[in-house]
Parts: sequence; C-alpha cells; structure tokens
Amino acid sequence: MEVNVSAESFESLVPGGELQEKFKKNHDIIFYRRQRDKAASQYFASFETLLLTDRGASLELCERDSQDRLCLQIRATQSGTVRVSLDELQPVKPRYHVSDVLLGELRYEPLRVNWKREDCVCLTWGLGQYKLLVSFSPFKLEISCDGEEIVTLNPENKLYFETLQDPTRSSSDSCQDDENRCGLWKETFRQFEDIKANGPSSVGMDLSLHGFKHTYGLPEHADTLVLKDTSVTEAYRLYNLDVFGYDINSRLGLYGSVPFLLAHKLERTAGVFWLNASETLVDVKYNPEPNEGEDEPPGKKSKISPQTDVRWISESGTIDCFILLGPTAAQVFSQYAQLTGYQALPPLFSLGYHQCRWNYEDEADVKAVDAGFDLHGIPYDVIWLDIEHTNGKRYFTWDSQLFPNPAELQHHLQKKNRKLVVISDPHIKIDPDWPLYCEAKEGGHFVKNREGVVYEGTCWPGESCYLDFSSSKTRSWYARQFSLSKYEGSTESLFVWNDMNEPSVFNGPEQTMPKDAVHHGGWEHRELHNLYGFYQHMATFEGLLTRSGGTERPFILSRSFFAGSQRLGAIWTGDNVATWEYLKISIPMLLSLSLTGIQFCGADVGGFVQDPDPELLVRWYQAGALQPFFRGHSAKMTKRREPWLFGDDVTSAIRSAVQDRYRLLPYWYTLFHQAHTSALPPIRPLWVEFPSDTSMFAVENQYMIGGALLVCPVTDPGVTEVKVLLPGSDELWYDTNMAAVHNGARTLDLPVTLNTVPVFQRGGTVVPRRAGCGSSTADLQQHPITLTVALDSKGNADGFLYLDDGHSFSYRDQMQFCLRRFTMRAGRLVNSCANDQGSFDSDDKVESVVILGLNSLKRKPKLKPGAPKTTVTFEFDAKRGDMR
Ligand code: GLC
Repeated sequence: MEVNVSAESFESLVPGGELQEKFKKNHDIIFYRRQRDKAASQYFASFETLLLTDRGASLELCERDSQDRLCLQIRATQSGTVRVSLDELQPVKPRYHVSDVLLGELRYEPLRVNWKREDCVCLTWGLGQYKLLVSFSPFKLEISCDGEEIVTLNPENKLYFETLQDPTRSSSDSCQDDENRCGLWKETFRQFEDIKANGPSSVGMDLSLHGFKHTYGLPEHADTLVLKDTSVTEAYRLYNLDVFGYDINSRLGLYGSVPFLLAHKLERTAGVFWLNASETLVDVKYNPEPNEGEDEPPGKKSKISPQTDVRWISESGTIDCFILLGPTAAQVFSQYAQLTGYQALPPLFSLGYHQCRWNYEDEADVKAVDAGFDLHGIPYDVIWLDIEHTNGKRYFTWDSQLFPNPAELQHHLQKKNRKLVVISDPHIKIDPDWPLYCEAKEGGHFVKNREGVVYEGTCWPGESCYLDFSSSKTRSWYARQFSLSKYEGSTESLFVWNDMNEPSVFNGPEQTMPKDAVHHGGWEHRELHNLYGFYQHMATFEGLLTRSGGTERPFILSRSFFAGSQRLGAIWTGDNVATWEYLKISIPMLLSLSLTGIQFCGADVGGFVQDPDPELLVRWYQAGALQPFFRGHSAKMTKRREPWLFGDDVTSAIRSAVQDRYRLLPYWYTLFHQAHTSALPPIRPLWVEFPSDTSMFAVENQYMIGGALLVCPVTDPGVTEVKVLLPGSDELWYDTNMAAVHNGARTLDLPVTLNTVPVFQRGGTVVPRRAGCGSSTADLQQHPITLTVALDSKGNADGFLYLDDGHSFSYRDQMQFCLRRFTMRAGRLVNSCANDQGSFDSDDKVESVVILGLNSLKRKPKLKPGAPKTTVTFEFDAKRGDMR
C-alpha cells in the first residue's frame, strides 16, 4: 500500500513502519543486478594506443565480445593522487560528467615509462617511489609504492561500461528470454514507471586494496564506523532519499552521499573517491588472511593478504576514480580536500548551541523560549523557525498572523547577539498568485518532466514545482531571493536551513523525483540525483554571500549533500528517533561524515521523532555538546522539550553540558581553522590518532576531539559505570572531571553519575578554553582564555589557539587572524606566533594556566624573569601534581 505523506498525515507516522517498504532493496535495483549477474568482461588494450603527455597517459580499451571501445586516462598528482577516468571512445551522445564538485583542474605530473613489455607497461612519476603497472590483456592497473602493492583496479575483470545506444536502432524491452534485459529502456517499481531516454548506461569497476582489512566512509548510512562485508548483507546504497525515522544498522540510502571510501592498515591509509552522481552501490568484501601453511590453489598468483575487494556500480555517467595514496590519514584528508575543497570556516556563532523545533508557534513563543534560556542561565546562539512560519509553505514569506513583525523579532534577538534561522526548501508551491512562483516559471527555473512540461510533485505545500539548481542561472536567481531588499522581513542576522532537498517528493518513486525528469541542458535527473541538494546548498551559499557583498561568512544547514558540500556549511543526519540506539549510532554516523570531508555535522539532539525521557535528553545534550554541529530539534507531534521543562536536575545537567561546550569553543574554533586549512577533521576516530594500534581500528563509541581530547559519551540508560579505552602505552590521560591521571593501553572502569561526561585530556597537549561563557558566543570575548597544559611523561606539551573576528572573511582577505602556539618544554611554557602572516587586534588575554602532571617533572616550573607576574598566579597542588 502506498503511503502518501502530507504535513497532516505526517503526524501519524511510525518510524520504521510500512513506510520503509517504499524504498528499494538491492534486488529491486535492476542495473545493479545486471552487473552482478554478468560474467567477467574482457577488456584489453594495446601498447600502440598509449599516449603520454605532460599531463598523464591515455590508452584505448576494447571489450573482446562486444567490441565496445573506451578511452582510459591516467593522471597523477605530486601529492599522491592517481586519477583513472573512463569514457566511451565515440559515444553516440555525450555522457554526464560531474562538474562543480572538484575545486578545479588539478596539477598533474608527467608520467614516465619506467619499463615496458609487450603485455604491460610500468609508469612512474615524481620521485619515482610510486609505480603504475598497466597490464594490457586483460586490462588491469596496479599501483604500488616502494615495491609494495597498494591497489589493483579491475583485478577480477568486473570493469563494466554500458555504451549508449541509438534509441531508434535498439529493440524495446522484452523480458521473455532474459530476465536481466528487463529495465534496459523502461523499468517499473511499484506503481512508478521510469522511461530511460538513453537506455542502459551503467558503469562499474572493482578494485582490491592490498593488506587492508578495515574500510570506512561512504556516508550516509545509519551503520557502524567500519564498513561491513556486503557479501552477507545489502550493498552500501548511495542514493539521496528522505527516510523519516530511518532504520539503523542499515546500508540503505539516506539523505546524502559521499562516494569516498578510506582504508587503513598499519603504516598506511588510502582512499578511493568515485566521482559519480547517479545512484551508486558499493560492495565491500574482506578476504581473510589464509591460515598459515594453507596452500594456495594451484596456478593462482599469490596475493598480499588480507585484502579488501570493493566494487562500485553506478547507474550512469562515466568512471572517474581517484586513488588517494596517503600514506598517513592526514595526507588522505588533505589529498581529498585538494579535490573537493576544505571545510568552510563556520561563523563562531554557529558553533554555539541552536534551539529548533517544528515549530515555534509565533513571535511570542520565540521570545519566550529565548527568555527561557536567559532565565535558566543556559547559553545559546540561534533559534530556528520551521515550515509553519511561512504563509502556506511559501518560502521567503511569513505567516502574517503568527509572525507579523519578523524584522523586529530579529532585532530583538540581535540585541542579545542571537540569530534566527529559517527554513527554505527546494519545492515551490504552485500558486499563480504568488509572484515568486510566477517568476520562477517564467524564468524557466523549474525541473521538467520527460515530456518537457514543468514537473509537478507534492510536498509540504501540496502541489509544487522543483527548482532546477543544476543550472547556474537558476542558482543565481535563487541566490537573489535572499537579498535584504527582496526577502521581506529578513535582516542580516537571518540564516538559512535547506531541507527536503534530496529532493523529497511525497508522491514520487521512493519519495523522490522520478529519474526521467529533465534538468537544464537536457540531462536526466538520474544523472545528477545525488547532486540536487548540493546544488541548492550552493545557491543558498551564493545568496547569503552576495547579501553581505561577499564579506560575511554564510551559515546554511542542509539535509542533503554530496562530496564537496563541506565548502558550503553544515549537515545534519535528518529524522532520527528519540531512543538510545539512535543516540549511540549518531557517533559512528558523524565520524563517517567527518572522515569524508563533511566535518561540520550533527544529529538532532534529543531525537527528532518521539519523546525522549529526561535521562535520554540529558545524555543526548552531553553527547551533542561534544559533536561539531549542536542543535536540539523535535518534530511537530512531540511534546515540548526546552531544557527547563523536566525539573532542576535535568536543567542543571543540560546547563552544565552546554556551558562546557561554550567554554571549550576556543578549542573547537581552532580545530575548525585546522579543518579549513589542512583538512583534519575536528572529530576523529581513534585510529586516526593512533594509527599503529590495531585495537583502535574499530572503536566507534569513543573518539577524539582534535588531537587532545578523548571523549566517551554515555549512551546507555541507568549506568553507573562506563568502560573507557585509553589508547597508547606511552600516553597519559588526564580525567577532566576529577583529579586523576591514567596510563594508556588500558580499559578504565569509570564511575558515572547523570552529570558525568567522560572527557580525557591527552598528555602532551594544551587546550585553550574561556574562563566563562555568558549567554551567547558574543559574550565569550569578555572572558579571558585559560590554558590547560597536560604534560606527557617527558614533561612536554603543545597546543594552538586561533582567533579572528568570528564572522567575516577578513581572516582570509586581510589576513586578520592570529594563530598562537603554546609549547611546554623542560618546565618552560612559551607562547609564540605560529603564523606570522596574520595580524589581529584583540584584547584577549591568557589569564590562567593549569598545568597537569607536574609530579612527573623533577623541576617545577617558575615564571620567567620579566614575565608579567602580577597577571598570572600559580598554585601548586602537590597531592595531584597540578599547578594552576
Ligand atoms: C523534515 C526535516 C525536519 C523538519 C521537517 C519539517 O522532516 O527533516 O527536520 O522539522 O521536515 O520541516
């Protein structure tokens, strides 16, 4: 039975119910089945077709049976990225190439022939440590470094490329003789028919990662951090979908997709980025190490084991695959950011706490909630308005009864340095009396159906049209709607939330847009489905940027995303549920996003659907305060849950978690600066910081915030103790809640109360905090900086502090920033400039320094002669060995 979701019927939905049946499983995906069922292909090449230029190599491939011919391009960068692209040699029409995701053309290195034989050629570049062995028959590509094989492409001859056919010459579908011929030109799923204008166009390739048995990434899935072996489960589906109350422990598609996989083993991290925006499935197979003494099957070439096989299958487009060779995780992050961009530096306010609800009813309600935060001493920065603030779900308008004075409301908030975020979805209500709809229609800004007429689907407003953000003209038109003169009732303190941008179409197949809808340039929706949300995010970014004349950093939250969305703002994990399982899974979900560049990410605190009990709410605030994007949100049908509605103990625990977040913002902001400039994710799985400790490779309930803080949020009800894994036999871990230091390489049984948030500072680090927090991030400047210096076993420590104005681009355009380094060596703490290109006038002072672990030192630190003794005082706690 089809369930149509309207704003009204939404209230009766049960997560995980019948609704999930509307989504395809692997066996419903015909192009995937077609490739899986096909016997190996036989692509071969010949040396004569090899062409070397100063930007790489090209080669022709031919399939033995079909005689289809492909053009292969191999390019390599100095920083350790190999790009392998395959397209038809002579397509009957051009195939879709993803644009706007890569930052620009990369600097490729010339490839040199290292040696050659009749059946293969060995190419090399740069200093020659990397080698690329191209075997001609069958075609294979092996990438090695210093003699160690890292990746083999097409090891099992699964390379697959459906060349486009001339529709007038192809026979129509007939399922009679071969079931797999079904769906070549037409496919039916439930009551939905998909007519494929280009016929079958799927592509795919397999690759082996040698020596690896841990892989990560491929968001968005509500699943474990380490990717599962899909020979026993469903493949990872990358197809952006609106899945209300999605199932957890599932590889089905969710709101966004990043086709980027990381693999890690001792001494190497590598990455594979598959740049394709059509529906994509990824199979992962871990091949165990053969038991010692076990014989290899006769005639089989021995492989480096263990080995992970990964197979990528996409519905259309071309093959454009990037192999990132690391060798460290930090290098893979940076190689990936050089392709798709670095995390945008968020305005400081957006790292504070956000209060959202579907819906805050009216202006009085907003003001009352705002006042509630002040009354209860809980800092926050942003209050959010969901769809009901508009006039009948017409975005860029206000309900004149409920929000008669929106600008005044924003001024009211702005006086306290707080902001308003409003929702702006991609569907536009069909209303011939609404000028915005008419303008969009006349301007040709809507997606069309396969007959060339404007496509209509239903969403919150009822019958709607969908903006075609893939067109730069439409993006600019949309961006202009955010100008202060056009957007009535908006002010500079209004920011934006893009939702339902998979896009969600209540009456569409799998609740999204039909694949045969047509975009600008005549491209079918199937080609770029996974880019739709990315493009709306991009248009909104352009809107907010232009609004300020290019000077202010935009803040936009988007539900849907693709590789590169990190350049545009924040992402959240959609409609989760208020249960402990969803709190728990938010951690690996956010770590997977962080590993794949989407570093400003969060999950709805408290759980969007259903009502959390007070304990769950507290634990969720504590966990959310340790995640990059920190927003409480709840659905329309849930009970109100502002933090002060559950009694003093709950209010006080939530207050303390939020205040701790605010005090820690100098550290978070410094980490975001690091993400913005060097791609290191602010939150990191333990294996990133402890790459040589195999016991860390699958840990997903704990993680690091930067290099200094290890956190283990409590995600179970009623617990009085949690187990915390403290890594590293050489490490010291200082409990930030109590006077205790622990050696690493052990599991700690930590007693906890409702107020405990397990956070440990690693010896050898310096963490900057604010001494107080005030009522919003703007108040932070009034509070001096405090440094917590946690000594390692040699008495050393290092850390950074980044400061700028917190909102504009002057850090970039006028170099108005300051990056300080704090170094503790041999009892001397030195505060030095870490980037002399920046200069920033600030009244910020380091007022206090807490030194943890002095007992491990023979000589206690003293103030350097000439230091301003009057401003800093030290007390030494001999029992604990700390100085403050
Ligand atoms: C979607 C969003 C949710 C929002 C609701 C109404 O379900 O995921 O966050 O509150 O739509 O706009």
